[in-house]
Amino acid sequence: MVFIHHKHYSNKFLSSKKDKITLRRPFIAANWKMNKTIPETREFLKEFVLLAEDATDVDIAVAPPFTSLSAAAESVKGTNIKIAAQDIFYEEKGAFTGEISPAMILDCGCSHVIIGHSERRQYFNETDEVINKKVKAAKNNGVGVIFCIGESLAERESGKTFDVLKMEIEKGLENIGGDNIVVAYEPVWAIGTGRTAAPSQAQEAHAYIKDRLRVLYGNKADENRIIYGGSVTPENVDSLMACEDVDGALVGGASLNAESFARIIKFKKIKK
Ligand code: 13P
Repeated sequence: MVFIHHKHYSNKFLSSKKDKITLRRPFIAANWKMNKTIPETREFLKEFVLLAEDATDVDIAVAPPFTSLSAAAESVKGTNIKIAAQDIFYEEKGAFTGEISPAMILDCGCSHVIIGHSERRQYFNETDEVINKKVKAAKNNGVGVIFCIGESLAERESGKTFDVLKMEIEKGLENIGGDNIVVAYEPVWAIGTGRTAAPSQAQEAHAYIKDRLRVLYGNKADENRIIYGGSVTPENVDSLMACEDVDGALVGGASLNAESFARIIKFKKIKK
């Protein structure tokens, strides 16, 4: 597989190394996708809560399927672990069979929601316009947003990575303030494929995203965390987290096992 290498992208603005330390706590979230029943959720969290007890310098969230949200919230009561939904609908209530409102996930004990995941874009035809409405609805209800963007393999290979990221940010976050938004960079070619982005590829994309956020939010953008997703594992998390603009991770497959996810939230800081 041939990758076209983009010319190296680095922040035009201040280096954010210092900002990372002072402003942004790492944020690491598990996206379970369509996995785990209620008993499986309880079993995972029973183990994970103990393993995560000493991880005090990182924000942790777990996103189970809707059916397990209440059980998950119950299991993490009194801990620092937050619960996230994997999606919401943007209307408050009404005749929308099968949909779940922001108030309903709050009701289940969620503080966050994942919006615009590439699987929702790909299999459920979610457009940037729909995603924008969902982000607005989440924010109006005080729900923290994990806003996902990322290019496909074809887009990367034809040199369109930055154009895609720019468009997804501009449309998805149109007329939306930056507070309470975590951006997840998830290159589609790295999701579930075992092919993680190299730290340099992740850093380059994150630096670009940071600059786009600065266009929208000015210096306030330095408070927005940009997390990486796509085949994150206990083996590669340390080198990804060492990147200047990588503030955390959104983890699929490797978050389904408590020990493996615990190792990820306890990533080791590599000195460069
Ligand atoms: P994997 O970690 O399984 O590649 O999934 C990444 C992802 O899509 C997280 O949202």
